[in-house]
Parts: sequence; C-alpha cells; structure tokens
Amino acid sequence: MSRTMVAGNWKMNTTPTQGTALVREVMEKVGNPPTKVVFGVPAIQLLAVQKLVEGHPNYAVAAQNMHQEQSGAYTGEISAEMLVDAGIEYVILGHSERRDYFAEDDELINRKIIRALEAGLTPIYCCGEKLDIREANNHEVVVGKQVEEALSSLSPEQVAKIVIAYEPVWAIGTGVTASKEQAQAMHDHIRRMISNQFGSEVAANMTILYGGSVKPDNATELFAEPDVDGGLVGGASLKADDFAAIIQAAGSRRS
Ligand code: 13P
Repeated sequence: MSRTMVAGNWKMNTTPTQGTALVREVMEKVGNPPTKVVFGVPAIQLLAVQKLVEGHPNYAVAAQNMHQEQSGAYTGEISAEMLVDAGIEYVILGHSERRDYFAEDDELINRKIIRALEAGLTPIYCCGEKLDIREANNHEVVVGKQVEEALSSLSPEQVAKIVIAYEPVWAIGTGVTASKEQAQAMHDHIRRMISNQFGSEVAANMTILYGGSVKPDNATELFAEPDVDGGLVGGASLKADDFAAIIQAAGSRRS
C-alpha cells in the first residue's frame, strides 16, 4: 500500500460556493490522482464536498476538528459519529492553531484520537515545534513528547490507522519552509519512535506528511526524501493550480 498522500487544510477559508468550485476545479485538473488526495474543509462544507468526491476512491474529505465525546450537551460541536455517518473518512487533530487558539493539549488530543478511531475515522495527527524550540535545538525532544503523549495507551493496530503530519509552527503560513534535510531528519525521528513503541511494520507503513509552506516549487524536493510521504498543505491548497501541481509532485514519488 502506498504511503503517499496530499491533504489540503483550508482552515477557515472559502464559502460553500467557493469551496465547491475549488474542489471541482482541482478534480478537473488532476483527473484520477496519482496519490490519495484529501480535502480538509470547513465543517459547513463537509457534506457537499463529500458528495463531489463520492465514487472517486483516490479523493477523500477531512474534517478539521471534532469533539472527544460521543454525543451530548456540547453546543456547537461535531462528533466522530456524525462525520462517519456523513461519509467523511479523515479528521485533522492537534493542529497548532487548535493548540494555540483553543488550548488543545496532547492529553485532549489523545482523547480525540481514541474517539476518532473508535468511530472508524482516520486521524491526521499534527505535531511540530515552535521557533524558540528549534533554535534551542530541542525540537526532536519536544516533538517526540507530543507524539508519545498523543498516542499514549493506543495499540499497534490503532496506531497503524493514523496519519502523522509534522508541521513546524515556524513554517506554517510564513513562506519559510523546513529544508528537505530538516523535514527528513524529523520524519526519520518520528518513524523510529513509532518503530520502537509500536513495531517496525507499523512504522514502515505509516504515512508521515510534512506541513508548513508547501508550494509547487518546493514540493518535489521535499517529497523526494525517503520519509516524507507527502504534504499537509494550507495556503497553496486554496489555489487549484498550486494544489494540482503539489498532487502531481507527490505522484512522482517512489511510493
Ligand atoms: P501553510 O501551507 O499555509 O503554511 O499551512 C500549513 C498548515 O498549517 C496545514 O495544516
């Protein structure tokens, strides 16, 4: 099974009308994609975008968040079961914007991951260090701790169903991308951790995406690294031409 994937995270951008047009344009440009493509759309667009990708097995839809409880009095929230019933396959969890603006920590994210897996969703778990941590050369320790806490108490079978996205916070929305060497080093570190804790087979099959200012002009060299299995793309996923080019870049990867 190929590990390669390109996921777009639209964040709080596009109206439903714009979002539908964007998905149609990407699908027209790309046709049958050479890799798994995931559209991470605002909640209000999940159903409409899911309809557009239905019957196209290489396209899928991700929610950008969900609640950790099964149901109940949580006004404004969306549950894993609701997503599954709507045909959604993926959920982005632990994004740095959720951590920073909505006070999510790895203990909460761990609960969300468990809930998502129980319901049958694939979590795209985001981790990544801030600039001061990178400058202090402490990034492997900090990201390692994030991953360890987020995956704590999970079985190897559960971890095998997770996608990890390494997103250095200093590279998100800044136009500053991690170098291919920096990305590869962290992805290798994460894969080794997974191997030590959950077994070499789980690690070898795990999709580890890089996120942080992925653009058409840097995607090919990032995705050429052996442990960079594709991208979680913010700004460039909002432009059909750019997202299509990044999808093609992932398609030229070995597997
Ligand atoms: P940018 O690609 O805009 O840097 O965003 C990355 C990101 O946060 C994806 O989740």
